[in-house]
Amino acid sequence: MPSSNLGLIVGTVHYGLALNVAARSPGKTPYGMPSSPVLWAEFGDRRIACIARHGERHLIPPHQINYRANLWFLQQHGVQRCIALNAVGAISADFPPGELAVPDQVIDYTWGREHSYADGSQDEVLHVDFTEPFDAELRGQIASAAIEAGCSIRSGAIGVTQGPRLESAAEVDRLERDGCTMVGMTTMPEASLARELGMRYAVCALAVNHAAGRVPGDTSILAQLERHTSQGAERFAAVLERLIPAIG
Ligand code: HPA
Repeated sequence: MPSSNLGLIVGTVHYGLALNVAARSPGKTPYGMPSSPVLWAEFGDRRIACIARHGERHLIPPHQINYRANLWFLQQHGVQRCIALNAVGAISADFPPGELAVPDQVIDYTWGREHSYADGSQDEVLHVDFTEPFDAELRGQIASAAIEAGCSIRSGAIGVTQGPRLESAAEVDRLERDGCTMVGMTTMPEASLARELGMRYAVCALAVNHAAGRVPGDTSILAQLERHTSQGAERFAAVLERLIPAIG
């Protein structure tokens, strides 16, 4: 079985990323089917194990992603460090769409997702330390690669909502009062499942819209989201080009 100790979980923006996929490893896990085969993407002379979070044809909505299978499948292919790419809505006024962030904290507002490998069949109750949900070294490496690529980068807490609908303005007000800088739909339970597996995990987020109630003028939130999602792939590509060699 081919193996890579670095993995990528690519989201909505990857559909413009034009990953150079050299091979595919299909398969299933004790938790069911992952969103996609492992896509072996070439970066220079390395092949990195990637999963397309929403499926190769982007048909799987955030609340129906089989997060357990995705992380498990990556680990089966040798992945010990995982970078997740995410499109997010920007809550903070100083975080315009088009800019990147590396979240340092998370608040989970999702519900009803299969969010743990602990299913009662283990010999003991499994608790994981989630004080720091994201790996500090990977976060630093993402930030350095982004700066080298000429992008500004910020940090802050990501709120994770259930989706697939976007939030109401009042919900975004609440997220802001809770201390969230950005909002997405897929970081949980991805981050905590990675922790349960002992996998190092961090997120590189791209703001693709101002969150609900914060969109300036009469621009529609969906138009903004679509425009920045298609433009954002270049940013992610520039970061990955520097990040992957740096991770070694
Ligand atoms: N809310 C939640 N998830 C998102 C958003 C948003 O505004 N934009 C991109 N993903």
